[in-house]
Amino acid sequence: MQTLVMILLVAAVVGFIAGLRLMSRTHTARLGNLISAGGMAAAIIGTLLQLQVIGILSPTALAWSLGAIGLGTLIGIPAAMLVKMTAMPEMVALFNGFGGIASLFIASGEIHHAGAEIGAFTASAAFLAMLIGGITFTGSLVAFSKLAEKIPSGAVLFKGQQVLNALLVLAVVIGLVVFAAMPELAWIFWVAIAAAAILGVLAVIPIGGADMPVVISLLNSYSGLAACAAGFAINSPLLITIGALVGAAGIILTRVMCKAMNRSLANVLFSGFGTTTASSGSGGPQGEAKALSTQDAYYVLEAASSVVFIPGYGMAVAQAQHAVRELADTLAARGCEVKFAIHPVAGRMPGHMNVLLAEANVSYDLLVEMDDINPTMGSVDVAVVIGANDTVNPAAVEDPKSAIAGMPIIMAHQARQVFVLKRSMRSGFAGIENPLFFRDNTSMIFGDAKATIEALNGEFKEG
Ligand code: TAP
Repeated sequence: MQTLVMILLVAAVVGFIAGLRLMSRTHTARLGNLISAGGMAAAIIGTLLQLQVIGILSPTALAWSLGAIGLGTLIGIPAAMLVKMTAMPEMVALFNGFGGIASLFIASGEIHHAGAEIGAFTASAAFLAMLIGGITFTGSLVAFSKLAEKIPSGAVLFKGQQVLNALLVLAVVIGLVVFAAMPELAWIFWVAIAAAAILGVLAVIPIGGADMPVVISLLNSYSGLAACAAGFAINSPLLITIGALVGAAGIILTRVMCKAMNRSLANVLFSGFGTTTASSGSGGPQGEAKALSTQDAYYVLEAASSVVFIPGYGMAVAQAQHAVRELADTLAARGCEVKFAIHPVAGRMPGHMNVLLAEANVSYDLLVEMDDINPTMGSVDVAVVIGANDTVNPAAVEDPKSAIAGMPIIMAHQARQVFVLKRSMRSGFAGIENPLFFRDNTSMIFGDAKATIEALNGEFKEG
């Protein structure tokens, strides 16, 4: 039995490592996800068997464990099946939060179970798991609410905020030291839970607008670190390893996101999006935006020899990816060179556009990263912007006062002609105006992106 337990636990770790590795490529991501799920199943079975071997798995404990697994399955499967693609980012944020509170519960259970007998090391690890888990939970709830637009998505800053944060951190650090030395003072632990919950909210409210991608990846990393600390608290090498993997992956993703926005992590965490800059960047409307009918757009596309599609969040909202693939196929069949330009923070979660286009079976070879497509944009006949806004806003590279100044964008404005498909002149997630819409070479094709692309497909069929 002991050997079987070892095999299962090693298989779990290998499954997670292999799964993560496979998830780094679009075409192997699905397999990676499956292998990771298999790793999780091995981890659960292995852990239950291990408890059985050491004789601490009472029938009541087994019933509780199976009940919890059953309840989680009942909630998780419909949530994952029914979630709309547009609601995926907030679901990811919420699940990060659940990871955090799970670690908090593990830590609380250990404190409760061990009582005053708990050693300094275990007490410190449990305290850290509780602290990071609590911050992750309430921080994720705020991130979820911002992404779901249940609360304003902008940065919230108030006077003395950083002082309050610093005082709370100081209080918690003192709490950690005192609790490690005197674990019989259990009340410190419970007070610290409240402080962690407040810190989670205070850490995320100053981050908003275009900085949200960084928060998501950072919270992801925190949930891993909390699990890692919980692993130390209950002496579980499996939890330590898995937590460290998630924590490290989250940190790497955070770096990628910061690089994509050309911001330092400190700047994102402490400055507040758009609050340190003077204007929304565009200095108000830049003239008249020109509207174009789908029929006129068809004549231009028909004659184009190179077209770059630039998808953004609006493509996810419209669920236009299948219609876009059809249009791309039609253009390619006519000898037009077609590419898709992918901005790392387009949409509302890392890889959002890749997931949508993969679902529509767009060939991976056609997807070109921002850094590779930009040098070629000047020679593109038509850039078709499908529900993207902030990620093609030229104010980022032209207006040093813009709230998104310095953020790399896809240089749609450099194409000979630009079609912007959106429903209105409303701003994107960052809430700032986009001078691209007023450029001489830009035409707005108003309407739902899917309806517009379908109308274009119809024109090609008739034509
Ligand atoms: P956004 O700047 O958010 O703009 C999306 C545009 O889509 C809107 O201007 C909207 O205009 C349009 N739209 C919405 N529904 C549409 C529909 N049915 N048909 C046609 N258009 C529609 O998009 P983006 O360029 O992808 O930029 C992403 C933004 O989100 C960035 O600021 C990024 O920092 C932030 N963000 C990203 C992430 C990650 S990890 N990717 C996470 C959180 C936040 P109308 O309303 O006029 O149609």
